[in-house]
Amino acid sequence: MPPIQIAIDGPAGAGKSTVAKALAERLNIMHLDTGAMYRAVTVKALDREIDLHDEEAFNFIDATDFYFQDGELILDGANIETKIRSPLTSQHVSLVASHKTVRDALVKRQQAIAEMHDVVMDGRDIGTVVLPDAPYKFFLTADPRTRAERRFKDMLKAGDTVNFEELVAAIKTRDDYDSNRMHNPLKKASDAIEIDTKDYSIAALVEKLYSMVKEG
Ligand code: DC
Repeated sequence: MPPIQIAIDGPAGAGKSTVAKALAERLNIMHLDTGAMYRAVTVKALDREIDLHDEEAFNFIDATDFYFQDGELILDGANIETKIRSPLTSQHVSLVASHKTVRDALVKRQQAIAEMHDVVMDGRDIGTVVLPDAPYKFFLTADPRTRAERRFKDMLKAGDTVNFEELVAAIKTRDDYDSNRMHNPLKKASDAIEIDTKDYSIAALVEKLYSMVKEG
């Protein structure tokens, strides 16, 4: 039997990672948060103080070791889960994720993982580029203010001070950047099922996706 592949795409803050993680737990299979991988590369690039516009400077990726341990990202042996979610990383990650060399290297790793494991993978280009043949594809959306509200609550919980309107603006900027970049832009696959997450609680949405997967 080929591995089960479930692709979940959508814009920042639509609830992809939370839903993907819970769905993977419900199905007892692996969850791969591909956004965390782009964030990890950004953390390393910032630590190295390279020019983030210089695509060639990202040739360190192939020699970088990263993996998830209990859902947390380990980069070259260090747990960088807090760092990958920091405002500084969020500010730069779209630029990093726009580089073809970065995308090619990470897509290759993501595809290799999906060949070995049943997986729920979430990101922006999973249904279109990483796993175009995935039998289950979902595209989760929500309007920018709803998404900003979720991020706002998460950030308050984490103790970060943040201005709500600035957060809405940042989300719109990121959507724009992710949707209009040249390589693998954020795009709904033609065969993906689109769901507005505003209409559901996380638990209800996970249940809905679970039933759809189980029904085939
Ligand atoms: O989902 P997230 O906010 O953690 O994603 C971080 C950034 O990475 C975001 O700007 C989009 C980018 N990304 C991407 O280009 N392709 C993916 N498969 C996942 C994330």
